[in-house]
Amino acid sequence: MFFRTTQKVRVLLLLGSLCICGDFTAADDPVIPANNGVTFSHVYKIDLPKASDCKVEMDTIPVQDQGTEQAVSSQGMEGDNNIVFRHNIRLQTPKCDCESSESFQALLYRINGLEEEVTYLKSQCTQGCCGGGGSDIKCSGHGSLKQDTCSCVCDEGWEGEDCSRRSCPNECSDNGRCVDGQCVCYQGYAGADCSELLCPNDCNDKGRCVDGVCQCFRNFMGEDCSLWRCPNDCSGNGECDDGTCICEDGFTGIDCSKVMGPNNLRLLRSSEESLLVEWDEVPGAEYYLLTYHPEGDEGSIREIRVPSDTNSYLITGLTPGVKYIINVSAWIKGITSEPESLEATTEVSTVQKIRVVSQTEDSIQVEWPNPSSEVDYFRLTFVTPEGQEQEVRVQKSSGAKTSYTITDLFPGTKYLIKVQAIKGNTAGKPSSVNGLTDIDAPTNLVTKSVTEDTATLSW
Ligand SMILES: *[C@@H]1O[C@H](CO)[C@@H](O)[C@H](O)[C@H]1NC(C)=O
Repeated sequence: MFFRTTQKVRVLLLLGSLCICGDFTAADDPVIPANNGVTFSHVYKIDLPKASDCKVEMDTIPVQDQGTEQAVSSQGMEGDNNIVFRHNIRLQTPKCDCESSESFQALLYRINGLEEEVTYLKSQCTQGCCGGGGSDIKCSGHGSLKQDTCSCVCDEGWEGEDCSRRSCPNECSDNGRCVDGQCVCYQGYAGADCSELLCPNDCNDKGRCVDGVCQCFRNFMGEDCSLWRCPNDCSGNGECDDGTCICEDGFTGIDCSKVMGPNNLRLLRSSEESLLVEWDEVPGAEYYLLTYHPEGDEGSIREIRVPSDTNSYLITGLTPGVKYIINVSAWIKGITSEPESLEATTEVSTVQKIRVVSQTEDSIQVEWPNPSSEVDYFRLTFVTPEGQEQEVRVQKSSGAKTSYTITDLFPGTKYLIKVQAIKGNTAGKPSSVNGLTDIDAPTNLVTKSVTEDTATLSW
């Protein structure tokens, strides 16, 4: 029961919001002229049987029982051609059980029917030609009127509610104004229907325009292809300045693809077991890689990472008198420079102490301890009384010491004797000693004649 009444309320509210016209089978429907419009007044008289549990409840629209009138009205736009529809629905106090009331059922049926009619009418009314019998003139001669919707269906090339405007191709693709059938494209658009995007500066004839974006020919770049492109786009290691790469620190080459090498690799100092090398710093280097190996023995190569904050390295643990190949390269972003190469030889072992073992009138024997490291041979020199230096090659003995006897010397003469170890082309530090030959003793002494007080000797 309550359900019924609320459903009725819904229908009433609907009526209140619609534009209503037409012929209704309702009681008491006088036509009341109002202003310039026409007011239709429909009054529904509903007799509801009185019952204790039948009440008409209206939440939003106050409804009073017992003969009072509730008007639900809807008014269209005010004006000359407006038509105002008004519905008055009067509800009588129910007198019986609502559910079984035939008249109540009938009312609901009619109201539902009314709703449908009103919906249809509303769709017509909103077209603005409600019942007016629209003519072709309304479509400006460029379209036909569709009766059911009261709207124009324009001919090809025309548009507007009344088909009075020339239409533009593709509605100018939303990228232009339509002026008398011709698109006036907005900035940056072209084509009859403004669908084409223009490219900046038409790509300067150095590229193709594809959908507003320049596809530059090789060697050109930039939004409008006006810039010369750099070789290899500077390999990501530099800035392109109209065709010329400005390389980042440490990179070089026309396309910045190369890392600068550590120039001027040089030997600062060497000892029997170490080599100190230095090179020109490479700006931007992340680190240096130093490798070294004895000449002809690449298998025993050693690698050292030298941090970039230093540009020298002391290689230690080397063998005396050995030539090493030292390479240094700079590394940036995983790219290595060409190595700088240097050959350097450790000092040959020093001969510790040469000493004279024995001498005769014309010879001197010297000896010295063998150095622990390898030597090719020893070079022994002595200076003759005439000031001439003489040189002798002495093989290293297998024992702890090597000795040598210098012969054919003058008696009673002092000699400066020097010895040094030789390895390859290098000589170790010399050790020297002074030797003195014995005084010349006469030989073949013969007594020639002897008298009482003389003797003649010869030798
Ligand atoms: C060292 O550098 C030279 C010259 O740059 C190169 O020929 C050689 O292969 C390099 N050696 C090593 C072990 O990298």
